[in-house]
Amino acid sequence: MGTTITAAEIADATADIRSKTTYHPKIGIVLGSGLSSLADTVEQPVSLPTNEIPHWPVSTVAGHSGRLVFGYLEGREVLVLQGRSHFYEGYDMSQLALPPRVMHALGVKTLILTNAAGGLNPSFQAGDLMVIRDHLNFPGMAGHNPLYGPNDNSLGPRFPDMTDAYDPELRTLAHQAARNAGFEMQEGVYAYVAGPSFETPAELRFLQFAGGDAVGMSTAPSTVTARHMGMRVLGISTISNMALPDPVPGTQQSHEDVLAAGQRAVPRLIEVIRGVVRELG
Ligand code: HPA
Repeated sequence: MGTTITAAEIADATADIRSKTTYHPKIGIVLGSGLSSLADTVEQPVSLPTNEIPHWPVSTVAGHSGRLVFGYLEGREVLVLQGRSHFYEGYDMSQLALPPRVMHALGVKTLILTNAAGGLNPSFQAGDLMVIRDHLNFPGMAGHNPLYGPNDNSLGPRFPDMTDAYDPELRTLAHQAARNAGFEMQEGVYAYVAGPSFETPAELRFLQFAGGDAVGMSTAPSTVTARHMGMRVLGISTISNMALPDPVPGTQQSHEDVLAAGQRAVPRLIEVIRGVVRELG
């Protein structure tokens, strides 16, 4: 919690990326675990490994460091981050703020955040997609907020508003995109926990009681950072598994079920993102 990213570090990373591409996307997309295939559908891609960008918090999860992919989706310029980093990897929240800060410095105005999450709402099913309406930022409420430390007033206010952090208009667009593609998405509250251990049954009961519909280990720090700078945020969770404190006997999922549910959700998530990008114009 001791370090703070500096304006110089943000400028360094931004200048490095600028020197490697002439793309100027206004739309940024962050891909969650198991969702990397969207990055492969970007046209005329310029792919930058994140471990070559100065000060970038490199992901240690998937065994590869991640990449930034610039290119076209639905005829619009986009910037896709594949391989985000997490607090549980040992990064400070401040370091996790760097990717959204750099995307903002590159000109990104709308940030689409995706993740894999556990379903707390018993009416959900593994394989569902959930539009994030709001979040519970438990680490943030306990002091691990990406805005902890001195505030850079040139970026945003000391006490940024978090009402409608997940843009209502973008949420509507996302639902419309899903309906146009012939399916419905859930909508709900994303409960952000630090991880990496999964929740105990008592913790899951607590998260349900607190109003959570899905639980996961990412996204909320990026949302807070992006909203601080006035970027619009759309968040979508793929429900990769149900996370219920008292599962109904006989309905437990195998690891294979979980993987299959995740993979079933990916083509639908890609359709929704394409639909939203098309509408953003
Ligand atoms: N808990 C926390 N994070 C997760 C889960 C879960 O059940 N599934 C995917 N990410």
